[in-house]
Amino acid sequence: MNGGVEISALDAPIPEAALVQLAAVLVDCVDGGASVSFMAPFSQADGLGYFRKVADAVASGEAVLLAAKLDGKIVGTVQLGLDTPPNQPHRADLKKMLVHRSARGHGIGAGLMAQIEVEAIRRGRWLLVLDTVPGENGYRLYKRAGWTESGIIPNYALFPDGRLCDTAVFWKRLDR
Ligand SMILES: CC(C)(COP(=O)(O)OP(=O)(O)OC[C@H]1O[C@@H](n2cnc3c(N)ncnc32)[C@H](O)[C@@H]1OP(=O)(O)O)[C@@H](O)C(=O)NCCC(=O)NCCS
Repeated sequence: MNGGVEISALDAPIPEAALVQLAAVLVDCVDGGASVSFMAPFSQADGLGYFRKVADAVASGEAVLLAAKLDGKIVGTVQLGLDTPPNQPHRADLKKMLVHRSARGHGIGAGLMAQIEVEAIRRGRWLLVLDTVPGENGYRLYKRAGWTESGIIPNYALFPDGRLCDTAVFWKRLDR
């Protein structure tokens, strides 16, 4: 990974400047055609609204939010959703793995994956689950990081331009 990259968990209260930078990363990913819950057109205000809700989840202990900073500016992020039902206290959901297009291909995604595992284990969450579009960048990242693909659900979601896309469900059991 690039020497200028720092990955850390953002604690509540998350500064406004960080929320603005996180929103810019999300907007860039949606603009780039990533299927990450949102449709085009997706504005900076939309992104900010989304990350304000994430900040609330961090404050309530329902989410862990990592930021990857390159030369002090956030260029990547990922979340761990801890809001599982009472019968799944050992599990967490990996969400919104995002790296700005200008920073991709330097191992930042891999670095975020490694650090989120550390955060999961720290909280006693040793089974992680995610879903992603088969064949896209994230799909290869998760395979490289040792996740197991359970199967594919056809026509699960939409790309930002409205085309249907499949989803692949992945899991990873972490060493305790
Ligand atoms: C998925 C995503 C987070 C990956 O981020 P990234 O920082 O580019 O990830 P990495 O750099 O670890 O890996 C990307 C590629 O660079 C390669 N790479 C990693 N470090 C490298 C280095 N130092 N030199 C050259 N290549 C490198 C990897 O092998 C990988 O190759 P691949 O494209 O053939 O699979 C990013 O593409 C993204 O944000 N996509 C849009 C959002 C999205 O779809 N997220 C997933 C939702 S489930």
